[in-house]
Amino acid sequence: MYKVLIIITLSLSMKIATAEDELSFKKQAEIKVNIFMKALKKELKAGLKKGLVNGVEHCNVNVSKISTMTKDDKWKIGRTSHKLRNQKNSPEKWMLSYLDDYKKNKKKDSSVVKLGKNHFFYLKPLYVGGVCLGCHGKKIAPKVSKKIKDLYPEDQAEGFGLGDFRGFVWAEYKE
Ligand code: HEC
Repeated sequence: MYKVLIIITLSLSMKIATAEDELSFKKQAEIKVNIFMKALKKELKAGLKKGLVNGVEHCNVNVSKISTMTKDDKWKIGRTSHKLRNQKNSPEKWMLSYLDDYKKNKKKDSSVVKLGKNHFFYLKPLYVGGVCLGCHGKKIAPKVSKKIKDLYPEDQAEGFGLGDFRGFVWAEYKE
């Protein structure tokens, strides 16, 4: 009888512990992703002030700088998509079904994925807004398009419409 009780108590407390881990991971991930996105938006704004062509260069140079800024030995931040501009942002294999799901169902909520003990991913969906169209839309100015193709010969991240799912900002925690 006692044994059973102990086992039940143990497994209950273990369950609670993982739920709390996930919750605290999610909270921290949200903060980090917000910092990352704010910094990205600031860069984009600064670049766009000098025109779209310049904006492309800003994204290109500074995204990696921002990613290292928010990185420590346990955390990593990045972006990915089902239609990539930069191959370096390629999704991990397990992310493909998530990309598919968000693309089809246009889910607004973020997902937390547990890959192992103390190994979590946070996926925040990005949807195309007006400001994105100049570089990811259906009608991209020839000068901008040329700049993009020069920097990203394998670019697939054009042809998006307003409100389309564009990809994820992700945060990874691994101990
Ligand atoms: C001034 C041009 C420009 C604008 C405007 C722009 N992007 Fe991008 N976007 C880029 C470039 C350049 C890259 C490649 C960055 C890199 O090298 O990692 C990129 C990459 C991305 C990626 C990473 C995945 C990939 O395809 O490599 C996502 C996600 C993304 N953009 C979403 C957006 C969203 C959402 C908006 C609107 C809020 C937006 N972009 C606005 C130029 C732009």
